Amino acid sequence: MEKVYVFDTTLRDGEQSPGASMSIEQKNELAIQLAHLGVDVIEAGFPVSSPHQFKACKLIAESVKGPIIAALARTLEADIDSAVESIKKAEHPRIHTFIASSPIHMKHKLKRSPDEVIEMAVKAVIYARNRVPEVEFSPEDATRSELDFLCFLIERVIDAGAKIINIPDTVGYALPVEFGEFIKSIKEKVSNMDKAILSVHCHNDLGLAVANTLSAVKNGARQIETTINGIGERAGNAALEEVVMAINVRKDYYFFSTDINTKQIYNTSRLLSNIIGFPIPRNKPIVGENAFAHESGIHQDGVLKHRETYEIMTPESVGKYTSDIVLGRHSGKHGFKKRLSELGLTLTDEEMETVFKRFLEIADKKKEVYDNDLFAIVSNELGKHSATYTLDYFNIISGNVSVPTATVRIRTKDNTIEEAATGDGPVDAIFRAIDRVTGINTTLDEFIVRAVTPGKQALGEVTVEIEIERKKWIGRGASTDILEASAHAYVNALNRYKAWSYYEQ
Ligand code: KIV
Ligand code: ZN
Repeated sequence: MEKVYVFDTTLRDGEQSPGASMSIEQKNELAIQLAHLGVDVIEAGFPVSSPHQFKACKLIAESVKGPIIAALARTLEADIDSAVESIKKAEHPRIHTFIASSPIHMKHKLKRSPDEVIEMAVKAVIYARNRVPEVEFSPEDATRSELDFLCFLIERVIDAGAKIINIPDTVGYALPVEFGEFIKSIKEKVSNMDKAILSVHCHNDLGLAVANTLSAVKNGARQIETTINGIGERAGNAALEEVVMAINVRKDYYFFSTDINTKQIYNTSRLLSNIIGFPIPRNKPIVGENAFAHESGIHQDGVLKHRETYEIMTPESVGKYTSDIVLGRHSGKHGFKKRLSELGLTLTDEEMETVFKRFLEIADKKKEVYDNDLFAIVSNELGKHSATYTLDYFNIISGNVSVPTATVRIRTKDNTIEEAATGDGPVDAIFRAIDRVTGINTTLDEFIVRAVTPGKQALGEVTVEIEIERKKWIGRGASTDILEASAHAYVNALNRYKAWSYYEQ
């Protein structure tokens, strides 16, 4: 079977999702997991755009072995210099350079003529090609570009040395059949197309990113650009797990394979969700909680009699195991560690200590600790030792006849600060008291509470989205006490902001 290359852009386009910022260490952790997953290319970031992006690309290039490490650059020498410098230590570096080719982008955004765009693209590819062995070129907004112009541009950049031509549906405008024909026409019209790999990069504005990607594969694309859980600019990108499983489950139709170890899909998806704080919707294909749950009696009966009556793939094939192992207060550290590693959660010794301590506290209150609890506990505790703020304690006075009042004590690297505040409700009072400690001006955009596992003793997980200086930050916290989980989530969002601002200044 012919291979389709998987280019993962979770760390670049994915991170452009509002609120999905990751610290440099978190990006590196995810990149290591992407290598386990078996992606061919990791797009580590857009180095010239910020010091944070540059440092993340550099760290990933130095530490992740196996996949090609790509860095994004506009067709400008300064961008390319920065990209080259950031990934120069990679085993296999790739520069991904792009310029818009649609009339609307060239006229209104770039204010450049089509000839100027061609000249810039060719120059950039030559410049990059003289510095790294592999160059990918993307004509941005390709699907709204004029076909003959697009093909001419592609021909020229292939002559200049581009080895991968990526066709982005930047605004998610394409429709599956039409996009497939578009890809086929490019293959037919570009005389030197056989000298480069054709790639696609689809956005999900009409909910068609996965369908468009698959249609392109059927029509000649051999590299797919995807993100874990489909995160990305606006409505996101094509979800890696969905495209890969479609190719895998429907081999009879596609006759292609990828090098993805599908058993790592579930862990990778959870890891990303934990890092960025975005919960995975229950009904999300492949990785959602309900993806393999059968509710109706007829379906349950069918599955019990013969699994394939209602299941086109097994949960095990994507690495989702229904475990008989339920941990509890008497579980030793060894069993605990083993279960975390089976779930793909690799921790340093220091992190393991904190997480195990928290596990014991939770197991004391809640008899049975399930896998989803473990994901929540790890997500709650990870990174705390390097965090700017740590919640020491909080106290709440609340009731239907008293003014909710919160006292919080927060530790910073060299100080411990206690503050109190009143609020409209207990959560509001806690957040206001924390604001007094940090002095950061925030707006609360979203507040979500959910039970991690069933039952009255369930661990509650709170997700908050706050806005600081017109940028969104998501934080998550878990506890058997919803108010405590809220406080942790809020502090977590503030810590993400602080980690980001540290590198940006
Ligand atoms: O969507 C897009 O056009 C992009 C390019 C930079 C490839 O992300
Ligand atoms: Zn994109």
